[in-house]
Amino acid sequence: MPSVEENEAQWNRNYDWEAAGEEWSSHWGGVQTQWQATLLPRIWPFVPTGTICELAPGYGRWSQFLIGLCDRYVGVDLASRCVDACRERFASSEHATFEVNDGTSLPMLGHESVDFMFSFDSLVHAEADVIARYLSELARVLAPNGIAWLHHSNLGEFRSEFRRMRHAEAVARRVTILQSALQKRGLIGSRHWRAESMTAARFAEMTFDAGLSCVGQEVVNWGGSRLIDCISVVARPGSVWDRPLEVRRNPNFMDEGASAQSIAAVFTSLMGRGSG
Ligand SMILES: C[S@@+](CC[C@H](N)C(=O)[O-])C[C@H]1O[C@@H](n2cnc3c(N)ncnc32)[C@H](O)[C@@H]1O
Repeated sequence: MPSVEENEAQWNRNYDWEAAGEEWSSHWGGVQTQWQATLLPRIWPFVPTGTICELAPGYGRWSQFLIGLCDRYVGVDLASRCVDACRERFASSEHATFEVNDGTSLPMLGHESVDFMFSFDSLVHAEADVIARYLSELARVLAPNGIAWLHHSNLGEFRSEFRRMRHAEAVARRVTILQSALQKRGLIGSRHWRAESMTAARFAEMTFDAGLSCVGQEVVNWGGSRLIDCISVVARPGSVWDRPLEVRRNPNFMDEGASAQSIAAVFTSLMGRGSG
């Protein structure tokens, strides 16, 4: 869990999308600053480029930046509601298209047609079976010197820790003060709906099984001190990007977001004032 069906129910029907997903950027002080301070430094070696495929764009929180960085953009999401919203939002971008998929395959993309595949804050909710299907599609659609940058779950590394916490959680749920005290001490923690079957190491093995090469992984914390997420970079063996896997564990990812809040307050808040 979460399954493809649960993701479909959550994002196509249950979630209100009132703020178009930008509410998830509040820890960074806003979406502009999160893009500039956290995402762009991690993708700049790969853009601008020819064709970008964004997996699971939601309401287009990252599409609004990616569309300007390519000749052709394809956004693919299992929620038709998201695809409809993006089609409307980016109607004036003629080189951008949005397609609904089944949550595992990419039939709208041709053989070796994608230069850069990107996904942030979406595949963290995808279990290993879904990731394996997408990696096998990636092996078909990635251009010879294409590259993929995929944010996924590492929750599986903390599986037994989270299982042990379940009892404390059940008790704490009834006593709010106890809940915040345990949270502060890291004795209970949110899973943030991360996929339990995924780890960074498993992802790297799965890329190899798909005939691809995992060339970089940043294992990061999310919403607390545990490193429950990972951003992996995947290329074709023998391509210009290929090299032995470089792994870093970064426990300061959330601090980076907190620091970005001051960038947002002092500098990003002045954006647009000088333009006319
Ligand atoms: C939390 S939202 C994030 C959206 C966007 N990436 C952002 O950061 O604003 C998760 C998105 O992933 C999509 N999604 C979840 N599982 C998916 C899957 N297996 N295939 C395609 N889209 C998926 C959902 O429909 C939803 O749009």
